[in-house]
Formats: sequence, structure tokens, C-alpha cells
Amino acid sequence: MSLPNAFKYRLAVPVMAAPMFLVSGPELILEACKAGVAATIPALNARQSSIFESWLAQFNEQLSDQDAPYGVNLILHASNQRREADLALCEKYKVPYLVTSLGHPGEVVKRVHDYGGLVFSDVIHAYHARKVIDAGVDGIIAVSAGAGGHAGTQSLVSLLREIREFWSGTLIAAGAINDGAGIRAVEILGADLAYMGTRFIATKEAQAQEAYKTMLTTCGASDVVYSAEVSGTPANFLRPSLLQAGFNPNGTLPEGGKPHLKDLTEEAKAWRDVWSAGHGVSGIHDVPAVAELVSRLSDEYEQACCLPRSIAIRGAFVGGSNTKGWADKT
Ligand SMILES: Cc1cc2nc3c(=O)[nH]c(=O)nc-3n(C[C@H](O)[C@H](O)[C@H](O)COP(=O)(O)O)c2cc1C
Repeated sequence: MSLPNAFKYRLAVPVMAAPMFLVSGPELILEACKAGVAATIPALNARQSSIFESWLAQFNEQLSDQDAPYGVNLILHASNQRREADLALCEKYKVPYLVTSLGHPGEVVKRVHDYGGLVFSDVIHAYHARKVIDAGVDGIIAVSAGAGGHAGTQSLVSLLREIREFWSGTLIAAGAINDGAGIRAVEILGADLAYMGTRFIATKEAQAQEAYKTMLTTCGASDVVYSAEVSGTPANFLRPSLLQAGFNPNGTLPEGGKPHLKDLTEEAKAWRDVWSAGHGVSGIHDVPAVAELVSRLSDEYEQACCLPRSIAIRGAFVGGSNTKGWADKT
């Protein structure tokens, strides 16, 4: 287990709010950090770099060392033409941590380490984790099957255990974690933090449309469809929103489907019309304020840490003897 020093004693519960395209805004980030959860904003949620800069200034002004750290998600893919400008702003404002997606983080690691920040990279396979470790990242975000957004296909249990065999640095678990029991469970599996996206969409501060938030409270895991049809990369979407937008969630390429979107405006339109969620949607029943959600997660986590084992252990020896047979021991 390896939580970075920059996170120690600043979290109410071991959680990082995940970056969500079009959903995470400055209000969500500020509320989450003040409540004690690290929170991440995609740089591209600001329509232009000057707006992004004003957000960073606001975070540095309004958050103190007592609050949880905030971070920025940078898309490294060549199609992101703002990559350099946004990275330069992260350097200027000394953003505490960056989360990189879709690309080799080598240069980002060097530049962020130069000012004392941290870099985490999200991965969906262990071999990808090895590559970003070689690039010098501080932490791995293991994104499993059932996560919101661009999910993987490997179970969270398997992915965490596989990565923990060769990585002793910070490990962050992503995929359908919704409550304190889930947070505690991934800690037991070797993670330092739980990375939570979908649960934070259904909060008052999230920038998502009200109908999206309501849909999250009414859908179950069986309403989540894993499909590449919306943007060309496999991601999890809510079936009712696919139907609403004219897609056929049963698998065939729909009329109006635009595979392999390259342009950010098209991508934004796709994600605005079709709503993403992970399997954790089945546990979402309300739309609380972020502070209320974090307080609830913290209480649930405390309770989960004290849970007794569910069974008496068969195989425990009694009376110090190993010849008298097996007995229950709680
Ligand atoms: C609506 C939505 C938008 C997302 N946008 C991004 C993004 O811009 N960048 C990114 O790295 N991950 C993005 N993700 C993935 C999340 O950061 C995170 O990996 C995921 O939400 C964790 O799984 P969970 O939703 O089951 O908690 C998005 C997820 C959702 C649900």
C-alpha cells in the first residue's frame, strides 16, 4: 500500500473523484476537495485554455493544504490540439496531480515532477501498466470491466491482483465502486484509493442534465450497454439514452452512429446525447449534494472497516493441539 504523501491526512475517505467529460465542473471539484475527496477535472471540460486557466486560479485560491488535492485529466492523444497549452498551465499553477489518458506519459512525467506534482495513468490491462511504470508514473489507475466511460474488460479483482504482483506504488481502483463497502473491498485487494465516477454524476453539483441524473436513479446494471458504436472506442452507456438518441443497443451499427470520431466537437455531441454509466448504477437511488455523499461514504467506510468475518473459520485448531481435529473459531 502506498498513498502519496500529498494525500496523507487530507482525505475523509480513500476516494478520488474521477474525471468525467462534460460532467465534472469547478463546483464539483471544489465541493469534493473541501469535503475530503481528491477530485479530478478533464482540462477539455473548459471550452478553451483561457477558461481552464481561470478554473486553476480558482482552485489554488479556494483550496488550502487542509483540503484534499485536486487534479487535472489530460488526454495525450495527438487529436488533442490543446495538449501543450493545457500542460503548460498545469506547470504554471503547479497542479497537484495529473491523470493521463490515451498516450505515453513520459514527457508529462518529467515536466510535472520538475515542479513537484504527481502523475497517474489509467490502464485497462497489466501490460499497459508495465509501460506507464517504465515511463515513471507515480500511480496506476486500474480501470476494470463495468466502469463508466471507456471501461476495460477485465474484472476489478483480477486486474488489481495482477498489477499488485509487480507494482508496489500507488494503485487506484476503478469500476462500479459506489459505497463504503466497495471502497473498503478494493483496499483489501491492494488498492490505495477508489476512483469513483458514475456515483458522482448523480450529485447536485455535477454538470449533467437533470434527466441524466434521474435516469441514473432508475436504471440497473442490466441497462448498461458496452458499445463502441457511439464514439468508436468501447464504453458503457445507459440503454434508455442510446434508444433516445436513435441507437440500437442490441449490437448492430445504428443509423446515425459515428464510429471513430476524431473531432472533439463531434465527440462532445456524442457524449452529450448518449449518457455513460458503469455497473455501479444499480446502487444509485438519489442525487445528494457532494458533501452529503462524502459524509455518507465516510460513515459506510468506517462501518465496513469494522465488519466481522462472515463465517467461522473451518480449520482453526483448538486447545493448541493439531491432532484433535477441526473446530470453529470466530
Ligand atoms: C460520463 C463519463 C465521462 C467520462 N469521461 C472521462 C474523461 O474525460 N477522461 C477520463 O480519463 N475518464 C473519463 N471517464 C472515466 C472515469 O474517469 C472513471 O474511469 C470511471 O467513471 C470509473 O468507473 P465508475 O463510473 O464505475 O465509477 C468518464 C466516465 C463517465 C461515466
